[in-house]
Amino acid sequence: MKIRYLTLALASTLAFSLPAFADTVEVLHWWTSGGEAKSAAELKKMVEAKGHTWKDFAVAGGGGDNAMTVLKTRVVSGNPPLAAQVKGPAIQEWAAEGVLANLDDIAKTEKWDTLLPPVVANVMKYQGHYVAVPVNVHRVNWMWVNPEVLKKSGVKEAPKTWAEFDAIATKIEKAGFIAVAHGGQPWQDNTVFESVALGVGGPEYYDKAFVKLDPAAISSPTTLKAFDTLRMVRKHMDKDMSGRDWNLATAMIINGKAAMQFMGDWAKGEFTAAGKVPGKDYLCLAAPGTAKSFTFNIDSFIVFKQKNQDSKATNDFASAVLSDSFQEVFNQNKGSIPVRLGHDMSKFDACAQKSAADFVATNKSGGLVPSFAHQMAQPSAAQGAIQDVVSSFMNSDMSSKDAVAKLLEASKKR
Ligand code: BGC
Repeated sequence: MKIRYLTLALASTLAFSLPAFADTVEVLHWWTSGGEAKSAAELKKMVEAKGHTWKDFAVAGGGGDNAMTVLKTRVVSGNPPLAAQVKGPAIQEWAAEGVLANLDDIAKTEKWDTLLPPVVANVMKYQGHYVAVPVNVHRVNWMWVNPEVLKKSGVKEAPKTWAEFDAIATKIEKAGFIAVAHGGQPWQDNTVFESVALGVGGPEYYDKAFVKLDPAAISSPTTLKAFDTLRMVRKHMDKDMSGRDWNLATAMIINGKAAMQFMGDWAKGEFTAAGKVPGKDYLCLAAPGTAKSFTFNIDSFIVFKQKNQDSKATNDFASAVLSDSFQEVFNQNKGSIPVRLGHDMSKFDACAQKSAADFVATNKSGGLVPSFAHQMAQPSAAQGAIQDVVSSFMNSDMSSKDAVAKLLEASKKR
């Protein structure tokens, strides 16, 4: 969805913004599942510890599509929250509207430029100025596995390539289990497609097709193969998947109904909240074919200019988010890794330690790519249109050839 159209509306309405209370920190986010809510509660605690009043603005809906719609309405009506969970290129789109606060002062005082990896800092800046503060680094190309289900199905090892996936999934189904736990919602469909495309084509193809939106890469036989593979994976999802929330799909892995789920590591927050131990109760493995890649998804908050409010609340909020203590506790609940460079990972679980090591390694090798399904790579209009194509493909008998043609059209949306 485009943000540009807001410019005129904003220019007239912001002038009449309602005064915000100096110490009220209203934060829009979409962290409402069990693990997410625990993490959000840590943020609330931290803000309150600085003497402010937390005003929760939670909009349910995984992936944040609902939250973004509500945010636009609030801003157009001249009443933005203090902070909102916004990511990737949308940060720049909001900044271009002239509605964001400049965070350069606090960034300078707290040395964000040395604290953050450049790949993260760049996303937080608009025309060289900080306009957002990052919370974490999520990895999206995970496969969550119930090892007990594999064992009961006579499967020795989870699939490492998409080529071997079909036979293994069929074996699991023959043993009476659901092979792939999935929720049929557009953003979840796109999340699976992203891992499939990465596994089929590798990071260089991924970067060309889904980050640079290069027409030749999009129309290539690799994209055709990615859709063929998605069709194969779709076959192994259960008939009740339509509309299912992602955390309910994770619960199917937790309670042994299903074998595998393709989802970012916020899913680990659900395993953690259920008291499950990685390596024993569940496995965190790279999605087939993606072991040497890392699709990153950085949660961040943009902060809106507030009328009649000094910058103290804003600075306190940003400072809390990047503090060592918050990064430690929030990320252990959330399933992500701290965004600060050199954070001590010794108290984190094995999946997070692996994620942190892979983040550094793939940053060097070229395997580190932004997640397009999680708004990190594409202009918001193209992202929405691409997501629609993937979702219609999943919910119809559209041919791979038609899907590629539609994807090309969608990628041109601005
Ligand atoms: C966000 C995560 C969130 C997930 C599910 C992702 O886009 O980055 O923070 O947990 O959606 O709602």
